[in-house]
Amino acid sequence: MSRTYRLAVIGCGSIAEIAHFPSIQRTPQAELTACCDTDAARARAAAERWGAKAWYTDHREMFRTCELDAVIIASPNNVHRNQAVAAAKAGVHVIVEKPLAVTNTEAWDIVRVCRQHNVKLMVGCDRRFWTHNQWAKQLVEEGVIGRVLMARASLHEHWHLYQNHVAKTDFRLRADVAGGAALPDTGAHAIDLLTWLVGSRITRVVGIAQRLAMPETYTLCDDTVWVLMEHENGAYGCVSCNRFSPAVSQATELYGTEGTIFTATDATNPFQSVPMAVFTNKDYTLETLPEILRNYRWPQLFWVEDRLQPTLPKRWIPIIPPREPNNYTNMTRHFMECLTQDAEPLVSGEDGARAIEVMCAVYKSMQTRAWVDLPLTEEVVPPHYQPVPPED
Ligand SMILES: NC(=O)c1ccc[n+]([C@@H]2O[C@H](COP(=O)([O-])OP(=O)(O)OC[C@H]3O[C@@H](n4cnc5c(N)ncnc54)[C@H](O)[C@@H]3O)[C@@H](O)[C@H]2O)c1
Repeated sequence: MSRTYRLAVIGCGSIAEIAHFPSIQRTPQAELTACCDTDAARARAAAERWGAKAWYTDHREMFRTCELDAVIIASPNNVHRNQAVAAAKAGVHVIVEKPLAVTNTEAWDIVRVCRQHNVKLMVGCDRRFWTHNQWAKQLVEEGVIGRVLMARASLHEHWHLYQNHVAKTDFRLRADVAGGAALPDTGAHAIDLLTWLVGSRITRVVGIAQRLAMPETYTLCDDTVWVLMEHENGAYGCVSCNRFSPAVSQATELYGTEGTIFTATDATNPFQSVPMAVFTNKDYTLETLPEILRNYRWPQLFWVEDRLQPTLPKRWIPIIPPREPNNYTNMTRHFMECLTQDAEPLVSGEDGARAIEVMCAVYKSMQTRAWVDLPLTEEVVPPHYQPVPPED
């Protein structure tokens, strides 16, 4: 029988409540042991509600006094580095919510110290754990749409939706704490998803991250983002995000030489009648069609349509994948599985740090008005961000 892992959560705010505590509860291998939040009332309430034995207001005290196997860091972006480093030094495995950190130096510090102390590090890019994105990845790897040469991911969502109704603090509005908004908040998902689905690192970046919609009395963070990314394999990716559209919209588009895949995770709209659609130009028969597609391909005329010709008629296949287990539950279970199997997590620390490099490159590109090569050769500090010095 597989063992149970003692977990703590640092930052008992909105994402911990909505996603992490319920996912821990649904993961048989995980046991919530401690809750930590600088707001004592919130730490204690979370411990009581979700059944943790202990609660803390200081992560250092928690790592000194509480026996833990793993921690989920869901605190504001500016403290991710120090908290992840403290966890690694205490020999505790770490999931850090996205963005892994704010600057490229902070991000690579986390990766380095986790490697030095031989603890596993995963970044909370939950979109990779939706079934439709996992199926898209599998179909790309099986060559169903040929070589992916262009990819696009978007996430448009007004500040007010999350900030006014869900968030527990205003850290997202504070550029000195969050480091930015559309780029490190929504953009972090889009950049990670595209890089993973295309399956090739980003070598250079050009883009903009600007505040066009919101007044500076509300926030100094960016609310409008475009990023163009060149991948190592020659493909190009494009990310667009904003924090001003009242309608939430999200799309991921993969354009290959032999087909196209669309997925939607955060929201669908009338153009997206299903969360996933695939078109392949390949000559498949019912027998050779990949199982994912076979399960969702229905004849449009009547049942013999698919048997009239040697190969299947070519058309879009709409797919509605199962919603359960959901993305976060899949992610928590996956991490527990990595601890048991001593395996590398799907979203590695290096993946998280490279995504931060892309974000930092966009801020640099804004200054130089040019493409920026990766990896970066110096620390890039986003405008208005105040880095928290390393704890030790
Ligand atoms: N994967 C996703 O889709 C997703 C969604 C939401 C948030 N997040 C990430 O999760 C993190 C938290 O976001 P949120 O929306 O839950 O914020 P929130 O404002 O709702 O909650 C933040 C919590 O952290 C606590 N906190 C502040 N400083 C702390 C510290 N030094 N140590 C411990 N606790 C501290 C606050 O008291 C609060 O309870 C951010 O990094 C954010 O980007 C990810």
